[in-house]
Amino acid sequence: MTDDIKKGLAGVVVDHTAISKVNPETNSLLYRGYPVQELAATQPFEAVAHLLWHGELPTDEELAAFRAAERQHRALTPEVRAVIDLLPLEAHPMDEVRTAVSVIGAGDTAGASALKAVGTPEENLERSKRLFAMQPAIVAYGQRRRRGQELIEPRDDLDYAANFLWMTFGEEAHPTVVDAFNRSMILYGEHSFNASTFTARVITSTLSDLYSAVVGAIGALKGPLHGGANEAVLDIFDEIGEASNVVPWLERALAEKRKIMGFGHRVYKRGDSRVPTMQAALESLAEHYDRPDVLELYRTLEREFVERKGIYPNLDYPSGPAYSLMGFDTLTFTPLFIAARITGWTAHVMEQQASNALIRPLAAYNGPDERHIEGYVPTEAEL
Ligand code: SDX
Repeated sequence: MTDDIKKGLAGVVVDHTAISKVNPETNSLLYRGYPVQELAATQPFEAVAHLLWHGELPTDEELAAFRAAERQHRALTPEVRAVIDLLPLEAHPMDEVRTAVSVIGAGDTAGASALKAVGTPEENLERSKRLFAMQPAIVAYGQRRRRGQELIEPRDDLDYAANFLWMTFGEEAHPTVVDAFNRSMILYGEHSFNASTFTARVITSTLSDLYSAVVGAIGALKGPLHGGANEAVLDIFDEIGEASNVVPWLERALAEKRKIMGFGHRVYKRGDSRVPTMQAALESLAEHYDRPDVLELYRTLEREFVERKGIYPNLDYPSGPAYSLMGFDTLTFTPLFIAARITGWTAHVMEQQASNALIRPLAAYNGPDERHIEGYVPTEAEL
């Protein structure tokens, strides 16, 4: 039995999912059957959210209704704003978003027993849509607050991506930037049983509520081996400075056995299927902002690392510099990942609820052999 241990559940298939298919053999990713590259090139993120939750892309009428509902729940509520304002300015933005989701959940399930808090499929779909709609305000306010800037209210005349950028920067973003941001949201939206999604499913499997599952998923995503890597990629870029410093920096880092953030993946072993699409978005941003230096550093580090380790970039590698060019603070990057992945997480929560089994694996015990308390006399019942 103990030889069967699969540390990190590497390669272990634990359930079915109809939401997405990650295929390392063909280096592909399908959302409900659609290649993610095709969705990123043709769809607004709102339509992909609809696809993940409902299983189909929306008709024009359905998209119009979806957008109208999303606009109803964009604004930061007074209680969420009040709780964010209680946090220290230095609080990590992931902790800020985690706290905000917790407050929303506590409010929505107030008065309900644990069993009642689970809600019906219809209630959980509504909860998912409300959380999706408010993430931009939470993330944008967090960055502005840290910069000493005022809250910016959402604009109903802007769709999801453009409004997110408006609330963050207080100006209408150029279409090139809106498109790159929209693509990043779609690429980050869903990725099967990654650590944060599986965390959400484990929490859901105990019949806990959707908010608790999302709070747990945020905790998992914060880790630099997972979502926190996009923040760490920029730290590396800042350390290196410019392309001419890459080789000495890399030699030193590898000699120190450092993990180079933005590279490697548990499932993709010959490159992450999403990277070409996000890299194209990065290239369009570097041209738009006239920053060839960013691309030179990006390409040099990739070439030198792949040459040495044969380990390829994952989505976090192009998304970090792309978000930096858009003007987001490095600490805001992983909250952007939350804003996107909240669609995939909640789709998995609802899928788990629809066909649930408590997730409880076994462990191989390797502690001390059985031993007893000196002088203890077992009772009749214990014998
Ligand atoms: C995401 O699962 C998902 O789908 C996640 C995600 C999603 O969309 O949800 O795709 C998002 O989390 C992407 C990954 C972001 N994380 C990083 O960029 C952090 C850096 N990457 C590594 O920590 C690592 O590649 C992992 C954690 C991503 C995957 O690790 P594995 O599959 O557990 O493999 P491993 O750590 O055992 O590495 C195998 C070997 C090791 O060498 P040895 O110890 O056997 O000699 O490869 C080496 C590792 O040291 N290695 C790296 C490396 N990644 C692997 N060495 C240096 N730098 C790296 N980035």
